[in-house]
Amino acid sequence: MSTTTGRRRFMTRSVKAAIAAWMAVLARGAADPASGFFGLFGKKKEGLQPGPDGSLKLNLKDEPYRDILEPGGAIKLSVQGHKRPLIIIRTAEQGVVALSSMCTHMGCEVDLPAEGYIDCPCHDSHFDLSGKAQSGPAKEPLQRFPSTVDIKENVVTISGLIGD
Ligand code: FES
Repeated sequence: MSTTTGRRRFMTRSVKAAIAAWMAVLARGAADPASGFFGLFGKKKEGLQPGPDGSLKLNLKDEPYRDILEPGGAIKLSVQGHKRPLIIIRTAEQGVVALSSMCTHMGCEVDLPAEGYIDCPCHDSHFDLSGKAQSGPAKEPLQRFPSTVDIKENVVTISGLIGD
C-alpha cells in the first residue's frame, strides 16, 4: 500500500468517525431537546417552572428549601429556561437574595457561598452575597432577581424569571 493510499484511508476513517459522532449528538438532541446539540444552545427544560408572570414561590417548610428557613443558609435551584441554577441566600430574617449562578466572566457555575463570598471555580472570581464582583477576571455582577420573604407564611417569592 502506498503512503498516499494509507493517508486517504486514514482520512476517510476519520471523516466517517466524525460524521458518526455528529449523528449521535443530533440523535440525542432529537430524543431529548435539553441535551445533545440543541441542548448546547437551547433553553434548559429541567427544574421548576415559573408561573406565567415569571415568578416562583418556595414554601420554606418543604424539604428542598429548609436550608433557607433560617438566616445564613443557601441553596441552588434549577429553574426552567435558565442554563445555570439560581442561588438563593437567606441573608437575614427578612432578607433573601436570588442570583444566577452563571459567572459573568465565561459562564461557569459559581459555588454556593462560603465565608461571605461566592467563588467561581474556573478562574477564581469572587462575588459578595449581593452578587457584586469583588476580585478576579469577572467585572460584572451576577444576575440578580427580585425576591422577598414572607416570614409569617415562610414563603420566598422570586420574580423576573424570564430565562437567561
Ligand atoms: S468563568 Fe468564572 S472566573 Fe472565569
